[in-house]
Amino acid sequence: MVLWIEKYRPSKFDEIIGQQESIDKLKAMVEKGDIQHMILSGPPGVGKTTSAIVLAKAVFKNEWNQNFIELNASDDRKLSVIQGKVKEFARTKPIDAPFKLILFDEADSLTQEAQQALRRMMEEYSGTCRFLFSVNYQNNIIEPIQSRCAIIRFKPLTSEDVKKFVKMIADKEDLKIDDKAIEALIYVSKGDLRALTNVLQSLSNVSKEIDSEMVYKNNGLIDIMKIKQGVEVALTGNYDSAKAIFTELLDSGVNIKELIIKTFEIVTSSDGLIDKKSKSYVIERLAETEYRIIEGATPFIQFQAFLAFLSTLKS
Ligand SMILES: Nc1ncnc2c1ncn2[C@@H]1O[C@H](COP(=O)(O)OP(=O)(O)O)[C@@H](O)[C@H]1O
Ligand SMILES: [Mg+2]
Repeated sequence: MVLWIEKYRPSKFDEIIGQQESIDKLKAMVEKGDIQHMILSGPPGVGKTTSAIVLAKAVFKNEWNQNFIELNASDDRKLSVIQGKVKEFARTKPIDAPFKLILFDEADSLTQEAQQALRRMMEEYSGTCRFLFSVNYQNNIIEPIQSRCAIIRFKPLTSEDVKKFVKMIADKEDLKIDDKAIEALIYVSKGDLRALTNVLQSLSNVSKEIDSEMVYKNNGLIDIMKIKQGVEVALTGNYDSAKAIFTELLDSGVNIKELIIKTFEIVTSSDGLIDKKSKSYVIERLAETEYRIIEGATPFIQFQAFLAFLSTLKS
């Protein structure tokens, strides 16, 4: 299945909706051939990752795939793994370009320790590599990195922006979406176009005509059924399959904190999923997982530990 968030990811600056100021800054860098280290900050689903990819395509043209890599939240973010990947990438010469570009996507969740190491690598490889960080909050990045980066701020999208985007997809996918449904989509997505696109794709499997009631019923935004399925699979003792399901969710752009909250809701609200006694253990473990992540542990590894725990509950 082709995910619409990939199918409709802009591949040129001109296809990016809104974000004029940010896009102008990026375009100016491309024209000057002077790309700086950058922090792309702003709310989810407004074009940060997209802009980084579009930038790489604009700078490197056909070689963009060789000169650009993206490390995202579902990758192993152990310090040694990050260092290994950066080294391997930065070690070889860029193809037909003065430098390479490396994107740390959702860098909010990088530990302080990892960031310190990255700061040193930024210096070591400054001759051949530019570092980009996408974050929800600029202040989740340590000051020494912030001070080396140009800060590009992405704004929440306006209702008009979101409307334009919905109409574009409706047109391409032959969907009928009435005005009330568009309003509902704007309301439930809160301007997050990734969430909105996922809602539209799942609704389009149900019907080509979308009304507001359907939108509100699907208000989960993140695929609750899939999370529930992942939890159920883990509870059967099948850790590997559960891990695969959650990896897919994270790769589709679900935020790990949101994932934990939804998992919590599922575990606490569904009767019969877990017996009463185990339920309290599971909630405790989930709280612990969240706490460790806040304290700076690697989110996906912590979540996997939680899944491993779930898969031992099989009686
Ligand atoms: N400004 C935008 N213009 C057009 N599409 C967008 C924009 N922002 C997000 N999208 C859509 O939402 C998806 C996710 O956007 P992304 O850039 O990954 O968001 P984030 O800001 O969280 O990194 C993209 O594939 C694209 O379809
Ligand atoms: Mg992103």
